Amino acid sequence: MTEPDLTPASLSGASRLMSKLHARDTPNPDAPPIKVVDLHKSFGDHEVLKGMNLEIERGEVVCVIGPSGSGKSTLLRSVNLLEWPTKGKVFIEGIDVLDPDVNLDLVRTRIGMVFQQFNLFPHMTVLRNVTIAQQKVLERSAEEADEIARAMLLRVGLEDKLDAHPSQLSGGQQQRVAIARSLAMNPDMMLFDEPTSALDPELVGEVLAVMRGLAEEGMTMMVVTHEMGFAREVGTRLVFIDDGQILEEGDPREVLADPKHPRTRLFLSKVL
Ligand SMILES: Nc1ncnc2c1ncn2[C@@H]1O[C@H](COP(=O)(O)OP(=O)(O)OP(=O)(O)O)[C@@H](O)[C@H]1O
Ligand SMILES: [Mg+2]
Repeated sequence: MTEPDLTPASLSGASRLMSKLHARDTPNPDAPPIKVVDLHKSFGDHEVLKGMNLEIERGEVVCVIGPSGSGKSTLLRSVNLLEWPTKGKVFIEGIDVLDPDVNLDLVRTRIGMVFQQFNLFPHMTVLRNVTIAQQKVLERSAEEADEIARAMLLRVGLEDKLDAHPSQLSGGQQQRVAIARSLAMNPDMMLFDEPTSALDPELVGEVLAVMRGLAEEGMTMMVVTHEMGFAREVGTRLVFIDDGQILEEGDPREVLADPKHPRTRLFLSKVL
């Protein structure tokens, strides 16, 4: 199987995306938003994911925890099609994304992703950071993109920062711009990879509050985080990963209060 071009440059306009629409590209509303079956990923001879199975229902907030290097980011990047699995299957809304005939660009537009580093364009205003992909990827008009960007920036509490540049914002504000940018693309699900890890402690809360709001509105979310309070209060499921495998999962309150696997217990004893 040839690997698809996964560079941002391969993203094309909505009309080109839609012109390639086939039945196999149509999301099934009854299918789980994310389903991972026997997912393996190796880099050279280093096997990083060793057969993961995960099925996430609509509206779930799945928090992923585990030691550094255990494969959390690789799992998220595989779900977001930034990594190509070595073996196994990934289904997004019922679509087998490893099917070489599937329109990956189209699938990818339904998945929002927020990273530890905000990756904003430093030379553009906040507003422009939130409109540019809408115009270039979804081919929205400038007016429509502007209207949606303002609404999303209002939602994350930054309506008074439209004309600021990223360097004039705090880390928490920059991360909220990144979330608004993602939401402006109308994703069906959002993946967060340690969205608050780069923030000063006093700025963590404002980002978690935005994420909590999204969860309450029913967004399907997968969140790699060290914020156990968030996992306990907002998470519908907690997944513990170690050495490329899911060792334990369940209700976050139960897993945090009474971890079953010795490795989960050891990990939590260090972070709680
Ligand atoms: N592109 C790559 N090439 C080679 N090895 C990689 C690559 N990406 C990740 N790895 C390796 O895969 C393993 C898992 O990495 P991953 O980033 O998924 O871990 P993580 O659980 O997210 O860790 P952290 O908590 O530090 O972010 C690590 O040993 C890492 O060095
Ligand atoms: Mg990581």
